[in-house]
Amino acid sequence: DKANYRHFMAKEIHEQPEVVGHTLARYVDMASERVLLPKLPFDFKDIQRISIVACGTASYAGYVAKYWFERLGRVPVEIDVASEFRYREAPLRKGDLAIFISQSGETADTLAALRYAKAAGAYTLSVINVPTSTIARESETVLQTLAGPEIGVASTKAFTCQLMVLAALAVAAGKARGELSDADEAKLVHGLIEIPRLMAQALTIEPQIEKLAREISKSKDVLYLGRGTSYPLALEGALKLKEISYIHAEGYAAGELKHGPIALIDENMPVVVIAPHDRVFEKTVSNMQEVAARGGNIILMTDAKGAAEATIESLVTIILPDMAATFTPMVYAIPVQLLAYHTAVVMGTDVDQPRNLAKSVTVE
Ligand code: M6R
Repeated sequence: DKANYRHFMAKEIHEQPEVVGHTLARYVDMASERVLLPKLPFDFKDIQRISIVACGTASYAGYVAKYWFERLGRVPVEIDVASEFRYREAPLRKGDLAIFISQSGETADTLAALRYAKAAGAYTLSVINVPTSTIARESETVLQTLAGPEIGVASTKAFTCQLMVLAALAVAAGKARGELSDADEAKLVHGLIEIPRLMAQALTIEPQIEKLAREISKSKDVLYLGRGTSYPLALEGALKLKEISYIHAEGYAAGELKHGPIALIDENMPVVVIAPHDRVFEKTVSNMQEVAARGGNIILMTDAKGAAEATIESLVTIILPDMAATFTPMVYAIPVQLLAYHTAVVMGTDVDQPRNLAKSVTVE
C-alpha cells in the first residue's frame, strides 16, 4: 500500500535511506568497515575484463559501476544495453566476468544476454531485486538488492540499491587486485556507511524541488549534463523525466555539449547540471559557463563548496550534503528523482503507470 503517499513512486523515493541501508548491511561489515560478500566462484585478481549488461535505469547503474570498477579496481569494464549486447555477438572469453543488473529479473533482453554469456563460458553474476526471478535462478552468483517490492513503473529505490551493491563489489575488486589497501577499504566502506543518512538529508530539499517542478513543467525540452559518475546520472535524470512527465529530455556528458547540443541552448530550455565538488568539478563549471553565455537557464545540483566556487548565474541551485566524492550518485539520485516526480504531478500524468510502459519488459 501507499502508506500516506499520493503515489507509489513518492513512497519508494522516500524509502531509499532505509532500503539502501538494508542493502548496505548485507554487503559490508559495519564494525570492521570491510566489504562482506558471499564466496565468489572467481577471484577478481584473475579477471581481465568485466562486461556489464542491463536495460534502462539498471544500465545506468551499470554505467556508474564502470567508473567505480575502473577507478578502484583498475579493471577494464564494458557496459552495454542488453538488446545490443546480445546481437552484436560480443567476444566474451572463458573466465571473463559478466554482470547483469535487473530489478525484476525477468527482462527478456537481459535474460537472453545472460544465456549468451553463460554459453560463452563467462562467470555470470547478477544484481537482482526479485530473488525468485528467472535471471536470479539462471545466474551463477546472485547479489540481491534489498529494495523490497518496487511498484512504480519508474525505477527509484531499485536503482540506488543496485548502486550500493555495485559499490561494495567494486571495493572488493580493488582489494582483491591489490589496488586498495586495508586502510583504503576502510575509508571507502566508511563512506558507504554514511550514505543512508546523507540520502535522508537530501530528501529534505523536496519543497525546493516542488517549486522548481512548476517551472520545469512549462518546458518542452530539458537537458541534463554531468561528468564522471554524474554523467550516467544525467542519463537517468533525462529518462526519469521523459517516462513520467512526457517532457522531452536528453542526458549528455558535459564535455560533449560543444560537439552539438549547445546549438539547442536558449532561454526556453532548462539545463540541469549535476556537479558535486569532485575531481572534474572545474571542467563542468566551464561547460556551465558555455550554457550561461548563451542565455541558458541552469539548475545546478551541487554541494556547498561547489555552489561557492561555481560563480555562475544559475536559475536555481540545489545544495546537497558534503560527502566523499566517489559515491555521490546514490545521494544525487534523490533530487533527480524528485524533480521528475514533482514535474509529473504538476503535469497530471499517471505517475505510477505512465502510458505505453510496463513494469517489466518480458518481450524483446
Ligand atoms: O526490471 P529491470 O531492472 O530489468 O528493468 C529494466 C528497465 O526496463 C527499467 O529500468 C526501466 O528503464 C524503468 N522503467 C526506468 O525507470
